Amino acid sequence: QIIEANGLMVLPGFIDSHVHFRDPGSTYKEDFLSGTQAALAGGVTTILDMPNTQPPTDSRAHLQEKMAIAAAKAVVDYGFYFGATDTNIEEAAALADQVAAMKLYMGSSTGSLLVTEFSPIYRHFSTFPLDKPIAVHAEDEQSLKYFGSQGSTEHNRTRPPLSAQIALSRALAIAEKTGRVLHIAHTTTQRELELIQEAKHKGVRVTCEVTPLHLFLNEEDQRRLGNFGKVNPPLRSKSDQAALWRYFDVIDTIGTDHAPHTKEEKNQPYEKAPSGMTGVQTMLPLLFNAAQEGRVELSEIIKRCVVNPARIFGLKNKGALEVGKDADIVLIDPRQEYEITNEQILSKCGWTPFAGTRVRGKLRQVFVRGTLAFAHDTYLAQPGSGAPLQYKI
Ligand code: NCD
Ligand code: ZN
Ligand code: ZN
Repeated sequence: QIIEANGLMVLPGFIDSHVHFRDPGSTYKEDFLSGTQAALAGGVTTILDMPNTQPPTDSRAHLQEKMAIAAAKAVVDYGFYFGATDTNIEEAAALADQVAAMKLYMGSSTGSLLVTEFSPIYRHFSTFPLDKPIAVHAEDEQSLKYFGSQGSTEHNRTRPPLSAQIALSRALAIAEKTGRVLHIAHTTTQRELELIQEAKHKGVRVTCEVTPLHLFLNEEDQRRLGNFGKVNPPLRSKSDQAALWRYFDVIDTIGTDHAPHTKEEKNQPYEKAPSGMTGVQTMLPLLFNAAQEGRVELSEIIKRCVVNPARIFGLKNKGALEVGKDADIVLIDPRQEYEITNEQILSKCGWTPFAGTRVRGKLRQVFVRGTLAFAHDTYLAQPGSGAPLQYKI
């Protein structure tokens, strides 16, 4: 087979270390086939799926159930987070070698997983293998509250970051005390990045993630998007958005927090509408475009979307285009410009907050472990062709 790549650029397949594929339990929003197809169409060849499904991925049986689902449906490579509860401390540690990481929700979000008391947090932090990441949703109840759909007031702007700080500070302190590896999901404010930077300087083994949502959208977009812009943590002020770019050095990974909800669900009254937006299909196009526009070096994007996630989560055979790694490859036409539309979105929910955004860089072909899986907007991959990840840690 001859691959025609004249004028195209070669990128490593992206690793999205933060997706919610809703399978099992809410497969009307997404399932492992639609989710991984959306990933493939977006140049993402590896995903790590979050545990807030129904049932949550919080026991051996539930993990096995999810593994069987993915084995039958996935078209990209996949791994799982194990969900922490108040009581599953020993079970989590026993299953650590079968998952990419633990996820611990310090604030409530979609689903029922939540651990807020000091004692179970401390026990998880000290019992789960110290070199294997615990990813925390470090937002407490206050910071997740939305203060009305009419946009933010001064009160809104100052309160959430302050309370987010408290959950984050607790997580950092316990990680320092236990000597464990900690990964902060979806950081959104300058203050969080300052705290993480300070902790890194002190030797705390912490890494952090930012989402394309918070890099490219802010509270003004929230007003424009209404419920469709509702997400945990919320879209922040312009100044916090700018800080994410200014503190880019502190950011280790970019993960999408792909959290599909149907249009019907989003169209409910604000308080009822669930939080979350799609993202897995638009991450690479948006970041590649940002590099094309000169906002950021492409190599800095690859670091955060491929190299660092592979290192942090100990993914064997993954991590950039190197000798000895899987041939997860994306071919992209850097000159072709197009508009992102809802119609292109392959997630079951069929919408993106980035509809209407023009980007330069059109994906041509995507290879997963050397096999052409997606070419010119057509799927070649069979359900079940995705493989479970193997871990070094
Ligand atoms: C996520 C979801 O819907 O699963 N929602 C969100 O707003 N980010 C859960 C989460 O990551 O908190
Ligand atoms: Zn979260
Ligand atoms: Zn999430």
